[in-house]
Amino acid sequence: MQRFTNKTALVTGGAGGIGAATARRLAAEGARVAVFDLHEAAKPEVTQAGWLSRAFDGTDGEALAAAVAQVEAELGPIDVLFNNLGQSGRERSALFCDSDEEVWRFVTEVNLMTTMRACRIIAPGMKARGRGRIVNMSSDAALSGDLRLSDYAAAKMGIVGFTRALAQELAPHGVTVNAVCPGAIATEAHNRIPRETLDALVAATPAGFIAQAEEVGGLVAYLASDEARFITGQTIAINGGRNML
Ligand SMILES: NC(=O)c1ccc[n+]([C@@H]2O[C@H](COP(=O)([O-])OP(=O)(O)OC[C@H]3O[C@@H](n4cnc5c(N)ncnc54)[C@H](O)[C@@H]3O)[C@@H](O)[C@H]2O)c1
Repeated sequence: MQRFTNKTALVTGGAGGIGAATARRLAAEGARVAVFDLHEAAKPEVTQAGWLSRAFDGTDGEALAAAVAQVEAELGPIDVLFNNLGQSGRERSALFCDSDEEVWRFVTEVNLMTTMRACRIIAPGMKARGRGRIVNMSSDAALSGDLRLSDYAAAKMGIVGFTRALAQELAPHGVTVNAVCPGAIATEAHNRIPRETLDALVAATPAGFIAQAEEVGGLVAYLASDEARFITGQTIAINGGRNML
C-alpha cells in the first residue's frame, strides 16, 4: 500500500519504540517523514521520499516551533501529526499518597502539554488547508488507572478529552483527531518494567500476549490515511482486550 505518497508526516518521540515503528511504516508507504526525539533517528531503508531527523528535548516549546518550521520548509506542510512523545516517569512513580508534585508536573508536561503544544503549532495550518490527520498517544493506563501511575493516567486521560474537543473544532475543516490507547507493547520502555508487573499485565490481558510496536504503527497509519476520514474524536484501544470501551 502507498497511502502517504506526496504527504508529510511528523512523529514525535520517533527514534525508538512505537514512534520509530510508525515512522518506518509511514515512510514505507511513501510519506516524507520528520522525526523529533532526544536522539537522532536513523533513516529507515524503506524510506521512499524525504526524511528529516531533529534531536532536541520535546518539552522545549521554542525548539519545537523552530523544528516544525524546518520540516515545513524542507518537506512541505505537515499532513499527518503523530503526537507519540510521552512516558510514565515509572522510575519515580509512587502511590498517589506518597507522590511528589514535581513528578506530576514532569509527567503532565511530557505527555499532555507536548501534545497540546504540537497541535497548537501545526493544527492551524491543517485547518487552513482543509485537510490533516492528528493521532495522539494515550494509553491503556488512562482506561484502567494503573496503580502507582496516577499522574500518567491523568495525563493520558487528559489527552483523550483534549482529542475529543479538538476533533469537534477541526472536523468541519477536513481534519481528524483521534487517540490511541495501547496496552502492553514490547519497547525499550517496556524492558524497564519489572518481570512480575509484566506477568500480571499479560495475565490481565485476554489475548494473553504482549504486542509489537509495529502493530500500533499499523493502527496509527490507518487513522492517518484517507480511508479513515469518517473517524474522529475516537479513543481506540489496542490492548488484547484488557479494557473494552
Ligand atoms: N510501550 C507500551 O507498552 C506503551 C503502552 C501505552 C502507551 N505507550 C505510550 O507510547 C509512547 C511511546 O512509548 P514507547 O514504549 O515506544 O517508548 P520508548 O521509550 O521505547 O520510546 C520513546 C522515545 O521517546 C523519546 N523521548 C523520551 N523523552 C523525550 C523527550 N523529552 N524529548 C524527546 N524525545 C523523548 C525517547 O528517546 C525514545 O526514542 C509514549 O507516549 C508512551 O506513554 C506505550
